[in-house]
Amino acid sequence: MQVTVYNCRPFDEKALFTECAKELGLDIVLCGDAPDMDNVSLSRGSRCVNVITSKIDADLLRAFRDNGVEYITTRTIGYDHIDLEAAKACGIKVGNAPYGPNGVADYTVMLILMSIRRMGAILGRTALQDYTLAGLNGRELRDLTVGVIGTGRIGATVVRDLSGFGCRILAYDLYEKDEVKQYAAYVPIDRIWREADVITLHTPLTQDNHHLINARTIAQMKDGVVIVNTARGALIDSDAFIEAIENGKIGAAGLDVVENEFGLYYYDHKSDILKNRELALLRSFPNVIVSHHMAFYTKNYVETVVKDSMKSCLLYMEGKENPWEVH
Ligand code: NAI
Repeated sequence: MQVTVYNCRPFDEKALFTECAKELGLDIVLCGDAPDMDNVSLSRGSRCVNVITSKIDADLLRAFRDNGVEYITTRTIGYDHIDLEAAKACGIKVGNAPYGPNGVADYTVMLILMSIRRMGAILGRTALQDYTLAGLNGRELRDLTVGVIGTGRIGATVVRDLSGFGCRILAYDLYEKDEVKQYAAYVPIDRIWREADVITLHTPLTQDNHHLINARTIAQMKDGVVIVNTARGALIDSDAFIEAIENGKIGAAGLDVVENEFGLYYYDHKSDILKNRELALLRSFPNVIVSHHMAFYTKNYVETVVKDSMKSCLLYMEGKENPWEVH
């Protein structure tokens, strides 16, 4: 029973995959790159492949199918990078590997605090030995209203964590959760646009919420609103967002994800001319903190996803009930 693992990181995953495969009695083929038409042949002989957030489109899925692949597991919670309809058409099942929400929730709270305290600009000045104060005055979280959009595992944890800061919390989700109601008030989404000083996104990316933050919704927001996105880049219309940063409508932002980050993040592009102008602009603003989709990246995460993704392959190949199968 063989599994081909793509995007296997030599510095923290390789040893874990090797050890885990041995424990589970699986053979593994390890590849450091994302799957593409050049390396798809490495999946030959494997009924399962193990990927991370690279684009898995219809052509690649058909090539996997032709190589005998039946199951794709992604070492992530979100699976919008896999064309699910094409996978279904190819008869390929898809699984994910959820991990605890605390790492992303911690990171979100950090981005909120960094944004309201202008930490990007502070660190920039410190690096230049500029120890002045002008322009660096921050705000205290307890004086602010935070709007949390999406109160699933991560959003609900963010709500609970934020409750300790004494801020007012508004929440929006398609489904309400009792545990959230003890700390936050569920309101219609337009009240979040109108009343929140800080808005943080925690929904998956779906056809319904693509560009949820756009020129129309930004226009309803408070002047100087802070936006934090640790969910998915395409929840925000980058052009409208950049315009709102430039005209001051958006006062600060913390973005762990951006539109069209595929192929950029997790690679060293120091010497490359990048074809993502929006990212270049966002990185240039002193009030925007950009990180490369790494809110999840903790020791706990790595151990969990390596083990669970491999166990899920084993369960699939043994024909047993598989709690990680999503499609
Ligand atoms: P979850 O599935 O537990 O919660 C998602 C919540 O969003 C659910 O309560 C659902 O009802 C709600 N929702 C779905 N569509 C909605 C809509 N149109 N409007 C309002 N609410 C909507 O997912 P979890 O674990 O909380 O993760 C949330 C997202 O965070 C993931 O889908 C993923 O895209 C992103 N993520 C980002 C990471 C990073 O490293 N930056 C790591 C992990 C997840």
